[in-house]
Amino acid sequence: MDKQLQTFISEKVPLIDAELNRLIELEKAPSSLKESMLYSVNAGGKRIRPLLVLAVLADFGKMSDDALKVACAAELIHTYSLIHDDLPCMDDDDFRRGKPTNHKVYGEAAAVLAGDALQTRAFGILASLEHTNPEQIIKLVALLADASGANGMVGGQILDMEGETAALSLQELEEVHMHKTGALLSFCIEAGAILSDAGDDELQMLRQYAKNIGLAFQIKDDILDVTSTTEQLGKPANSDATSDKSTYPSLLGLEGAQRQLDNYYHDAIESLAFLKKENSMLKLFADYIVQRNT
Ligand code: IPE
Ligand code: IPE
Ligand code: MG
Ligand code: MG
Ligand code: MG
Repeated sequence: MDKQLQTFISEKVPLIDAELNRLIELEKAPSSLKESMLYSVNAGGKRIRPLLVLAVLADFGKMSDDALKVACAAELIHTYSLIHDDLPCMDDDDFRRGKPTNHKVYGEAAAVLAGDALQTRAFGILASLEHTNPEQIIKLVALLADASGANGMVGGQILDMEGETAALSLQELEEVHMHKTGALLSFCIEAGAILSDAGDDELQMLRQYAKNIGLAFQIKDDILDVTSTTEQLGKPANSDATSDKSTYPSLLGLEGAQRQLDNYYHDAIESLAFLKKENSMLKLFADYIVQRNT
């Protein structure tokens, strides 16, 4: 991994981890619920979504006292989505982030509820931001709702499930990816742009970047599902084949999937030209997303 990115990650991840814990500890929740929420939050995710929020601010040279909270809100939605994604009624996976999945430890009902509570916490955090103007807060709340709900991640998850019984076309698969994975990543980029007071033209370019990076991210996830071991991934390898998912590798083969990944990567990089930096943080993140092996 690039040194500059490595420094950024090792500086920001401890801040993200501490803030996530603080934000959940503040909740007046039954201790068993809090424990199961914290179990998944602290299970060792890469924190790509919160890091992307902070990366946008870094590339714009901006600071915001609320950036860390917005970043954490995205990670809470992501963690909730994974808890539900692993349930027996969904992907039925027993391992996540190198540990038994939430429902394996706390039971299915508690896992559903931990996910619910993480989700609502995310919106509560955005609504209570103290250093962001009300119009921007409303924009952030609406964007996160759109990105995580029927029009975003949840909509994508349903399409993903439907792709288990029918072979999807490439176009349909792109739709699934843009919703189930791309939408929340796009929220992170756009939220960073809002907090940086980015202009409309800049926002347009960042949206292009986010769309391509979202597609690249899920194709990489699908490739890793085929090429990596459970041990490396911290979640079951070959989970997609086991549940007959439609994926880029299953549709195009590994080489075809890798070619598509390269295309999306190049399109993502092209849309960063306006930053006029050779090694912007967002460029380094794009590299990391396509090169990662977990
Ligand atoms: C996995 O996301 C789920 C997808 C959207 C493909 P990550 O690879 O970011 O998972 P963690 O947070 O690092 O565990
Ligand atoms: C899930 O995609 C994306 C979510 C919205 C949670 P996957 O089902 O491929 O994610 P993993 O491979 O279990 O992490
Ligand atoms: Mg899934
Ligand atoms: Mg899954
Ligand atoms: Mg996967």
